[in-house]
Amino acid sequence: MVDEIYEMLSKSGYSDKAIEYFKSRESIGEIKGADQVTDLTGPCGDTMKIYLKVDRDKIQDAKIQVLGCPGAVASGCAIAALAKGKSLKEAKEIDLDALYKELEKLPDKKIHCARLAVKTLQKALEQYEEKAGEPKRKQMTGGSQ
Ligand code: FES
Repeated sequence: MVDEIYEMLSKSGYSDKAIEYFKSRESIGEIKGADQVTDLTGPCGDTMKIYLKVDRDKIQDAKIQVLGCPGAVASGCAIAALAKGKSLKEAKEIDLDALYKELEKLPDKKIHCARLAVKTLQKALEQYEEKAGEPKRKQMTGGSQ
């Protein structure tokens, strides 16, 4: 049986691995009781929302919801898979190159979709760290008065 979605995406320049991410949707969903939920809308109007479950500086689980194109779905699923199991420090190093390596190939005009996934994860990590640093800052301020 001919897989029309596969054919279409493959012809447009998606690697088999990127198509697999798009089709399996393994990382799509939400995490109840997530420690961080962050969304970001790209210049194209597509939106990603990432959920992180963090335990002692390690990302135990990551899920993503995507309102967007196949490039965004593949990139979002790949970024969640990459982040899962990493320390916060390691996750901060996930950049466009790392995501591209994981996806192997996207059509050239889909680079901004991958960029949106990287930015969504990085924004989530920043917000999580800000939140985590908040009690310490408050303590320090409180202690000096
Ligand atoms: Fe907007 Fe792909 S076209 S993220």
